[in-house]
Amino acid sequence: MEQQKFKRTTVTAALPYANGGVHIGHLAGVYVPADVYVRYLRLKGEDVIFIGGSDEHGVPITIRAKKEGITPQDVVDRYHAMIKKSFEDFGISFDVYSRTTSQVHSKLASDFFRKLYDDGKLVERETEQYYDEEAHQFLADRYIMGECPHCHNLHAYGDQCEQCGSDLSPMELINPHSTISGSKPVLRKTKNWYLPLNEYQSWLKEWILKDHQEWRPNVYGQCKSWLDMDLQPRAMTRDLDWGIPVPVPGAEGKVLYVWFDAPIGYISNTKELCDAQPERWGQWQQWWQDKDTRLIHFIGKDNIVFHCLIFPVMLKAHGGYILPDNVPANEFLNLENDKISTSRNWAVWLHEYLQDLPGKQDVLRYVLTANAPETKDNNFTWRDFQERNNSELVAIYGNFVNRALQLTKKYFDGVVPACGQLTDTDNAAIAEFEDVKAQVEQYLDGFKFREAQKEAMNLARIGNKYITECEPWKVWKTDPERVKTILYISLQLVANLSIAFEPFLPFSSKKLRSMINMPSCEWSQLGSTHLLEAGHRLAEPQLLFEKIEDDVIERQLQKLEDTKKANEAASYKAKEVKPTIDFADFEKLDIRVGHVKQCERVKKSNKLLKFTIDDGSGTDRIICSGIAKFYEPEQLVGKDILFIANLAPRKLMGIESQGMILSAENYDGDLSLTTITGSVKPGSQVG
Ligand code: 2FM
Ligand code: ZN
Repeated sequence: MEQQKFKRTTVTAALPYANGGVHIGHLAGVYVPADVYVRYLRLKGEDVIFIGGSDEHGVPITIRAKKEGITPQDVVDRYHAMIKKSFEDFGISFDVYSRTTSQVHSKLASDFFRKLYDDGKLVERETEQYYDEEAHQFLADRYIMGECPHCHNLHAYGDQCEQCGSDLSPMELINPHSTISGSKPVLRKTKNWYLPLNEYQSWLKEWILKDHQEWRPNVYGQCKSWLDMDLQPRAMTRDLDWGIPVPVPGAEGKVLYVWFDAPIGYISNTKELCDAQPERWGQWQQWWQDKDTRLIHFIGKDNIVFHCLIFPVMLKAHGGYILPDNVPANEFLNLENDKISTSRNWAVWLHEYLQDLPGKQDVLRYVLTANAPETKDNNFTWRDFQERNNSELVAIYGNFVNRALQLTKKYFDGVVPACGQLTDTDNAAIAEFEDVKAQVEQYLDGFKFREAQKEAMNLARIGNKYITECEPWKVWKTDPERVKTILYISLQLVANLSIAFEPFLPFSSKKLRSMINMPSCEWSQLGSTHLLEAGHRLAEPQLLFEKIEDDVIERQLQKLEDTKKANEAASYKAKEVKPTIDFADFEKLDIRVGHVKQCERVKKSNKLLKFTIDDGSGTDRIICSGIAKFYEPEQLVGKDILFIANLAPRKLMGIESQGMILSAENYDGDLSLTTITGSVKPGSQVG
């Protein structure tokens, strides 16, 4: 097969920004598929390294620091530690997880830039950029706000309007102001260094559109749409005080663009790994510069342009480096049909997940792979999570393992029995499961993780079907020898499951292997019917997965509901005040106090309550009010309310309503009746 011509594989997973935690979208989009792939290669005995790390530069980090009144270094220290722990907790098995603020990285990124500069590969350009004269600094796009030219939102950013979604440039904003000092920015000339992507366009077309037609359609398609346009030179430096200083004369106060240094982070982290392990000393280049090394980048779709166009151009311009062989980018994962959003806290955070569902890392890994957004955006719902746990992991995988182990314990005291003469049923089951290995492999080699996991699950389906068909519990009474063969084959299937699932569910595979006393395994053993020999003693069976009850799911749904409510409350802005009226107009309104004598629901209406009011006139007044959804009628009897006494009567559901009861409308549409705090006689005027 294709990859056999390579000696080794370098696998990278996008470096997450160290300005927040990791959520299920990150895991599904990048880290679980990357980890599955790497574990698979390791099991096959291939030479592979898995490179990760935190992306610690860039403007969002400086904004967060300013907001919290701490330094950018404080921000990245906090989140780097948190992200690293989340990855460890979920079994994302990086060989190295470092950070772009490390010394090694600074030097490597700086040298990389300097070589491009020395070789004349960068273009120097002077442009006008916004400058804050009070804060004495150039302003990154995100530090400028103003009015959106499209929807006139007054709070649009220099790069984007969050109200209408338009991409903007700071020059387009109406009345821009600096978010640092609040002052009006002025245009100032500044010099930056650009990567002339335009000069590489025809090479990129050849390399991707012709030579990499095997890339995923979503990746290939995005590259093609970029390459169908004219590529422009891209600035690789920024006027900013957080980042790696630009190592050339005349670049004081400038740093490398975060998207220049971040992908170089993959290389520096490889170097750190090799420097730290004596057996790898002096070897980092072989992972990046040897033609026999295959490079694979796992990323989300928003990173495609950087990994497929810009980074390869950087590597090519530098020379001496290999280029990515594949970039299996995923689309996005939504949560309960809504876009995952850090700012709206619409996410399932990994550290919170583990607090709420301790020990259930593999359940999440399983569900995220089963629903992986490989070809299109996909959706995570807690109900689906529960369903996949209960009716797949528990009812299929766990159930089969439990049946095989419990029966072996019952009939053979937990010792693998000897295999006898095979029947047609046995041969059919064996043929079926021998086939699974080739299937899973084919899918994994093609980065089709959902399908691969489905195939692994088929092993358990085959096992369940086999045990059900063979009915060892019945056969035991008449032919105990036959039961030996049935359980021997079942136990081989169990052992096979522990191998097939090792890349996907590493915690459960480990647990399963401890139950069957199989300390280690290799991919090549998959499909074998001799993994557990007759006489081999099993350990005590335990449940591999447990059912997740409704209340656990309901708590998670409630948590999201609370988030939604909090967001609505936070985004609430009071409605604009109506146009000014004269005092004379106000005086026309006759607002009075009324005493509720009776209150009842209006038949056939779920909105209206019918009030009988003592309005002080001696005659009862009937008023209908649309607040039935918010009160039980009995609650309101005896209350003193405010009503408009001189509003022209109106017929509502056949009842003449003589006025209007005043109520306040909350931002979410809930109505609340106005009442009187003191004791005031019915009919008293309000004003
Ligand atoms: O999109 C992101 O989260 C970036 N921090 C990914 C960087 S990937 C690589 F280039 F480091
Ligand atoms: Zn707008």
